[in-house]
Amino acid sequence: MLKLLCIFLSVATLSYAQICPSGWSPFNSKCLIVKTEKKAWFTAEEYCNQAAPKGHLTSISSAFENAKISALAQASGTSASQLWIGGTDLMQNGSYSWFDGQPLLYANWEQGQPDSSKHCVSSQAAGTGKWRTEVCNVQNGYICEAPMQVPSCPADWIYFPATQACYRVFMGASSWNDANSKCLGNGGNLTSVHSDVENNFIGALTSDYVDDDWYHNQTFIGMSDPQQNLQWSWSDGSATNYFNWAPGEPNGQHGNEFCVEMYSDVGTNRPDMQYHWNDTPCDETMRSFVCKCAPTWGA
Ligand SMILES: *[C@@H]1O[C@H](CO)[C@@H](O)[C@H](O)[C@H]1NC(C)=O
Ligand SMILES: *[C@@H]1O[C@H](CO)[C@@H](O)[C@H](O)[C@H]1NC(C)=O
Ligand SMILES: *[C@@H]1O[C@H](CO)[C@@H](O)[C@H](O)[C@H]1NC(C)=O
Repeated sequence: MLKLLCIFLSVATLSYAQICPSGWSPFNSKCLIVKTEKKAWFTAEEYCNQAAPKGHLTSISSAFENAKISALAQASGTSASQLWIGGTDLMQNGSYSWFDGQPLLYANWEQGQPDSSKHCVSSQAAGTGKWRTEVCNVQNGYICEAPMQVPSCPADWIYFPATQACYRVFMGASSWNDANSKCLGNGGNLTSVHSDVENNFIGALTSDYVDDDWYHNQTFIGMSDPQQNLQWSWSDGSATNYFNWAPGEPNGQHGNEFCVEMYSDVGTNRPDMQYHWNDTPCDETMRSFVCKCAPTWGA
């Protein structure tokens, strides 16, 4: 059963469709993101280059796309009245085109624009959606585009589309700290869990489908209570916005239970606990633990 699951997952990893990384919005075959921090046009273009493979300040090729960008700008809550887009006449003075090389076939200039004494194009995206030219070192918000991307995980890690993250199961930890440092040493963190879908995935990944209801034969996850004051947190720094405690947990038994395990294998003895969580001593040995890292994206 476990073997079949692995074969299925490794085949699936090779055939992922192109999608937008988290935080980016799909539009036709590209991804868009509105950045609210203010930068000069060139610095914004550099940021877009680095934010995703083949990223650029966005081109806009239709009124429909211009409206989509306005909606994203409004949703971003930006306070910038102007947002940089990829239009410029730096390649040919007086003739505006997109910096990624496409001709400017659609335009939505303000009255009296473009002013060809200025070389970079911004849009009043969160307001009228009209464009103007500005001096390129003005500080504006900006909008990046990138082609849709394919996620990939390091070798031996599994990509889970529902969370856009990579996971790997390791066997044998002498403590929660040992598990956490092994994850760090492999480029990840002990996994955080933020939804039922993610919790069930981690459960399925770690279960050996045998009734191993011994508390050492379960799975460390990244939750702990480092201050020992019932403030549970994730070691990867993500929001503590989801819990899946087993009935009666966390119970702080013996006053030393400050780390969290998932019951991967309580099986038929305690089906009510399967894949739920238990607070447990941090210095306990554990059969398995799950690390998580972000995929890399390629265009
Ligand atoms: C670019 O065009 C503008 C307007 O036509 C003109 O004022 C300016 O001198 C030109 N700049 C260069 C470097 O040719
Ligand atoms: C714990 O797991 C080990 C290895 O999978 C297994 O041999 C052992 O029987 C399990 N112990 C219990 C008490 O379930
Ligand atoms: C691991 O967690 C730290 C915060 O504790 C975070 O800064 C880092 O980005 C995380 N690494 C990964 C790969 O998620």
